[in-house]
Amino acid sequence: MINIALLGFGTVGSGVAEVFSENRDLIRSRTGFDFNIKYILDLREFPDHPLGSRVVHDFNIILNDPEISIVAEMMGGLHPAYDFSMAALKAGKNVVTSNKAVVAAFGPELLREAADRGVRYLFEASVGGGIPIIRSLTELAAGNDIFEIAGILNGTTNYILTMMFKNGLSFADALASAQALGYAEADPSADVDGFDTCRKICILTAVAYGTLIPFEKVETIGIRDITAEDIRAAEAQGCSVKLIARAVRTPDGIYLKTEPMAVRKTNPLYAIEDVFNGILIRGNVSGDLMFFGKGAGKLPTAGAVVSDILDIPARADSQPHRQLWVRDESAYVPELPKELLDRSLEELGIPLGKKARC
Ligand code: HSE
Repeated sequence: MINIALLGFGTVGSGVAEVFSENRDLIRSRTGFDFNIKYILDLREFPDHPLGSRVVHDFNIILNDPEISIVAEMMGGLHPAYDFSMAALKAGKNVVTSNKAVVAAFGPELLREAADRGVRYLFEASVGGGIPIIRSLTELAAGNDIFEIAGILNGTTNYILTMMFKNGLSFADALASAQALGYAEADPSADVDGFDTCRKICILTAVAYGTLIPFEKVETIGIRDITAEDIRAAEAQGCSVKLIARAVRTPDGIYLKTEPMAVRKTNPLYAIEDVFNGILIRGNVSGDLMFFGKGAGKLPTAGAVVSDILDIPARADSQPHRQLWVRDESAYVPELPKELLDRSLEELGIPLGKKARC
């Protein structure tokens, strides 16, 4: 029996409980283990939930219980999520998370601590919802020179842009609909101003290159100023407006940016609609690889958390690829060199919009 603790019982946390309950027999038969959610840490009580009796309000109960070997952090926000994660690693527990804010801010420290303690810090659910992009990119980057990552990494904004493009919805109505469907962040600015996307491309860059560029430095433009006219103008040119995050390896470092673009019909990102995310990985060995799937929502994201939990006993006796990141602001390149810019205008599309910073 493997005992786990869930930190946070909101959309993702309750989804993880649902996956373990619904797929109990499948999980046992595939992994050979039984998983038991021993504790749920939350400020609230859940008297009507079958796991309501597992709710605790003191993190020390989890920290001091030697039976807990895996902690799944799905609290959101930086603190106390980071502090609890670090304390759990120091206590020799594995930690998995869906919290991109923590990974983008403190990934180097958490990964270092996990390596030093001989445990794992896994974050599949932090980028791309149900798409297994972190695991795939980790393995791809081991023997493949990745020269570009381009993606639609935020389900809420892609949903909003799709509703504006296809159904003529206003920006406000489309955002309200995304919130009702549970896609949006608690603070909608994180989605619509591109901050969520910016953190996600910083995480993917760190996975590919081992270098975490501080997200505060990265130029980020959201979709708040995109109008129905912008969308129709793009359509008239055979393009569709998407919030695109890019990391391009240049001779001087890594170009990073998040911005709305009129994406050409010939690019695979053109066809990504609704809450779906699409991620194009370009490598010298792999060529172009396209990942596609639901980028937000309860079960896809919970499924990514569960996949990390199941990976821990599965690889207990093996040597997973190492993830150790260095935080390096000097690696940031704010402008694409001319030759790469020309190629990008032709292959990907035309940038739109005004500047903001995350
Ligand atoms: N608000 C995020 C999105 C949730 O819409 O993509 C998943 O990270």
